[in-house]
Amino acid sequence: MKSNYLESTPNKDGYFGKFGGSFIPPMLEKPFEDIKNAYEQLKNSPEFIDELKYVRKHYQGRPTPISFAKNLTKYCGGAKIYLKREDLNHTGAHKLNHCMAEVILAKHLGKKKVIAETGAGQHGVALATAAAYFGLECEIHMGEVDIAKEHPNVIRMKILGAKIVPATHGLKTLKEAVDSAFESYVSQTDDAIYCIGSVVGPHPFPMMVRDFQSIIGIESKEQFIEHENSNPNHVIACVGGGSNAMGIFAGFIDDADVNLIGVEPMGTGEELGEHAASLTYGEEGVMHGFNSIMLKDENGEPAPVYSIGSGIDYPSVGPEHAHLKEIGRTKVGLCNDSEAVDAFYKLSQLEGIIPALESAHAVGYAMKLAKTLPEDKTILVNLSGRGDKDIDFVVENHTIPNAKF
Ligand SMILES: Cc1ncc(COP(=O)(O)O)c(C=O)c1O
Repeated sequence: MKSNYLESTPNKDGYFGKFGGSFIPPMLEKPFEDIKNAYEQLKNSPEFIDELKYVRKHYQGRPTPISFAKNLTKYCGGAKIYLKREDLNHTGAHKLNHCMAEVILAKHLGKKKVIAETGAGQHGVALATAAAYFGLECEIHMGEVDIAKEHPNVIRMKILGAKIVPATHGLKTLKEAVDSAFESYVSQTDDAIYCIGSVVGPHPFPMMVRDFQSIIGIESKEQFIEHENSNPNHVIACVGGGSNAMGIFAGFIDDADVNLIGVEPMGTGEELGEHAASLTYGEEGVMHGFNSIMLKDENGEPAPVYSIGSGIDYPSVGPEHAHLKEIGRTKVGLCNDSEAVDAFYKLSQLEGIIPALESAHAVGYAMKLAKTLPEDKTILVNLSGRGDKDIDFVVENHTIPNAKF
């Protein structure tokens, strides 16, 4: 699939309009330049393309299907809701799509180790899996709050052989995990690469992770035709850093009649610290090496953020999302904690699919939208991950509806 938009964006310096770029200390310039050059070389190499195709098909279990959520559609009473099933990708989320590729790149560069942050633990599990498969060491940084909340994923990472480094400063969640991972990487650039977990960070990561995730959109475009003989009217995905959203959007970005909607977490309210809706309430700013839209406190520093979804409580967003919103190609939807929990239980009890809390935000928004649309309209939701990691936390804090025991 050749896409006019994807081929031409970002520019050679990693800018999506005015967003993106690379704002890094001098000692990181060479390592990031090496990563960029390796990617430019690999992406056109038939060996790399074949290796990735092979692992995606024979190890990850791709293509993941698209399922028609017929009971949820009936319950909402409006547009038809379809789900792209990234929850069925090996390790239970979309993150493995870029991790396998990033670890092949690490090997190509002769590195022995991969380092990353994780919020919900899905990127950490995916990277630990890819590292085990390709025989590299793996170091994962995770906020102490998320370590407690996402306990099953912490155990999975340990079983897979990764070293877990707790981030103990600030709010002890995703932003602090990124701070901690960057700090560790700076002292090990000879042996390691930093495998960023989303379409964020300095150039080339927003472009590279998008390209690796675009498999979701490429598959979806073909598969949706089988279901409806047309494109979907609306494509919806949750946005933390924005990798699963860019992945599915990539398949439809050149089709102006497809509405692309990124859903941000509204947490518990509109005050700073109660949500992580960066695109909705943020302003331009540089954080973690890239220029985008971010939530700032009164001193211009990254603001405290909150969401029930540990993988989407980030005070900034991928620069491409900032750009696509600015040029009007994408829209932003909102879903709060209680709508996400309702969607979590509705999808479980009506469709037999327990979604990740992050993905439940996209489902929650789709449920609201479906009700406002006629029955001949279609919505495709990227179900970015499964909810096994979240079940203990959800049942402890939100009573199971209609429980029969
Ligand atoms: C299942 C799932 N969906 C979505 C996200 C958010 O990441 P992104 O916005 O990069 O897709 C995460 C992050 O951990 C996740 O685990």
